[in-house]
Amino acid sequence: MENTQTENKKVVLSFVQASGTPTLGNYLGAFKNWHNMSQENNCIFGVADLHAITVRSQPADLRRRSVEMYAMLLALGLDPEKNIVFLQSHVKDHALLAWVLNCYTMFGEASRMTQFKDKSSKHADNVNVGLFTYPILMAADILLYGADCVPVGDDQKQHLEIARDIAERFNGIYGNVFKIPEPYIGKKGAKIMSLQEPESKMSKSDPNVKSFVSLTDSTDVIVKKIKSAVTDSEAKVCYREDKKGINNLMNIYSCCTGLDFDAIEKEFEGKGYGDFKAAVAEAVAEEIRPLREEYERILGDQAYIEACAKSGAEKAQRLADRTMNKVMKKVGFYRI
Ligand code: TRP
Repeated sequence: MENTQTENKKVVLSFVQASGTPTLGNYLGAFKNWHNMSQENNCIFGVADLHAITVRSQPADLRRRSVEMYAMLLALGLDPEKNIVFLQSHVKDHALLAWVLNCYTMFGEASRMTQFKDKSSKHADNVNVGLFTYPILMAADILLYGADCVPVGDDQKQHLEIARDIAERFNGIYGNVFKIPEPYIGKKGAKIMSLQEPESKMSKSDPNVKSFVSLTDSTDVIVKKIKSAVTDSEAKVCYREDKKGINNLMNIYSCCTGLDFDAIEKEFEGKGYGDFKAAVAEAVAEEIRPLREEYERILGDQAYIEACAKSGAEKAQRLADRTMNKVMKKVGFYRI
């Protein structure tokens, strides 16, 4: 095998749904870590386009969003030579393994997934079976590549748990087929909150665009959005339970500058929120600018995107083949 999968390194795997332009929250909570992890591990990163169709969208939209998200992964500096960066639907074994795993997942355990309950109440007009089996497809994504470690946000912890349970059940019957994946939960910046309602997580699907900074926002837009972020009337930059808006801005500032909360409190002692917000906006804009420029450059180069996606899919396919050969044999399919 070429240098993509050297023996002593860990396999770190994560997928991202292409449900719109990612936000500062996605970046600080996940992507920034992905970039760091990709330096030291064998990373496999994918665009979860198969998962995306659990929610209805226009074909052209799905295609565009998938390519944009793929370009974003490349823009993060996940070197496609050293890592595997690809689109889920390009490796058909995700669907095949998901089917097999369906038959080793109990209806009851799938019914306990809280995200299914949330999503089915949000999309009450389209509670399709795909939404229900979504975590099983996710288990297939993970187990197909023998991932050691899966960086996930809080909302995906339960899905990783079920992936482990399914793998253990399968291994219990057939011997050691799947590696049992561990979660990786980043320490800081794991949760960036909405700029307008700092009690809830920053989300790209928030109808109020002022509540999030998108990774493609220009510096001007970033400054405006940070300026209008909700704070409080105390005019004192300090971290305290009841200062949700300020805490969030401090967290963002800390993630962008590397300063801890004490240092931030000192820096803004005696200064008002105007100064603080200006500094936060500048730090965010500087953090995002290189990424945005790289993203735009890559998006303009369709031939490069295609070449990366093709070679990513080929590399992923080779790993998937190994797992699927084992699985198909163990389960008892007649192989020719
Ligand atoms: N469900 C994940 C999310 O919405 C995306 C995802 C799909 C994923 N397959 C995965 C994450 C495998 C980690 C591993 O965020």
